[in-house]
Amino acid sequence: MLSKISETRKSFDEDLSKVSNLKSLEELRIKYLSRKGIVPQLFEGFQDVSREEKKNVGQALNELKIFTQNQYDLFKEKLENSLKSSEEPDIDISLPGRKIELGSKHLITQTLDEIKEVFKGLGFSVYEGPELESDYNNFGALNFPDDHPARDMQDTFFINKNFLLRTHTSPVQIRLMQQKKPPIRALMPGKVFRNEAISAKSYCLFHQIEGLVVDTDITFAELKGTLVGFIKQFFGKDVVYRFRASFFPFTEPSAEMDIWWQPKGKAGRWLEILGCGMVDPNVLINVGIDPEKYIGYAFGMGIERPAMRKYGIDDIRILFDSDIRFLRQF
Ligand code: PHE
Repeated sequence: MLSKISETRKSFDEDLSKVSNLKSLEELRIKYLSRKGIVPQLFEGFQDVSREEKKNVGQALNELKIFTQNQYDLFKEKLENSLKSSEEPDIDISLPGRKIELGSKHLITQTLDEIKEVFKGLGFSVYEGPELESDYNNFGALNFPDDHPARDMQDTFFINKNFLLRTHTSPVQIRLMQQKKPPIRALMPGKVFRNEAISAKSYCLFHQIEGLVVDTDITFAELKGTLVGFIKQFFGKDVVYRFRASFFPFTEPSAEMDIWWQPKGKAGRWLEILGCGMVDPNVLINVGIDPEKYIGYAFGMGIERPAMRKYGIDDIRILFDSDIRFLRQF
């Protein structure tokens, strides 16, 4: 009897080591532990055991019963746990994915980037200046006479007598030339502010990009060539343009550049996109550059208008509204 018990234990161990799923575990249970199974059968044989042996055999039988039952319980628990973790994960993988919203650049930033790229290709470096500017940098150093109408309170947001929100990016020319001696090939993007009535066409705030080149042998033809190259890259090779003589206190001679704008189904017209000219010698003197030795050209253009033309937007205010339905389109 004792040897039968130890054989049973051995074969149980062996069978258990082969169990790999709940089905074979159940077969093991039926074979050893069910009512007609091997272990209860052994118990039934207990009555035939001789008196002297009963104590030892009884103990061995009980040990076998407890051992097999425990092993079976442990294995079952282990198997069920591993099934739970592989087949029924805590996350419901059938749920639709949650979209991660990636922000995108504002149309104006995209346009600025695009313009910067074109000019970087032409050897320009990018500089920035402050939006709060001195009256001197914004006007005086740029050769604006004291009684120039642009200085009027109606156009300029004055902070006090000497400081204002810059009305153009041209004061960055002054800052740059005060710090850096020629040769200069610079692009200066930024926000500018004008105290204008807000409408579909104008806003109190917009962006400009200023260009400045100062060297010993600069020509007006080079200025024109640079700007024509730029608008062809920005608007396409077929863009129709013209230069018109104009006036700015800080350039002489000065010009404005127009492009022909023909919206679908509407009458075409000339559209002013930038101002430009050869840096006035007075400006060079104001920043301590010798106008006998150096010559320069400058240009300044708004960003909103070209961007609006390019993307077919007809109200400037929408560019400052932060309306996500509009912004998502770009
Ligand atoms: N600063 C001028 C403006 O805001 C544009 C300009 C820049 C013109 C540089 C000539 C040269 O209108």
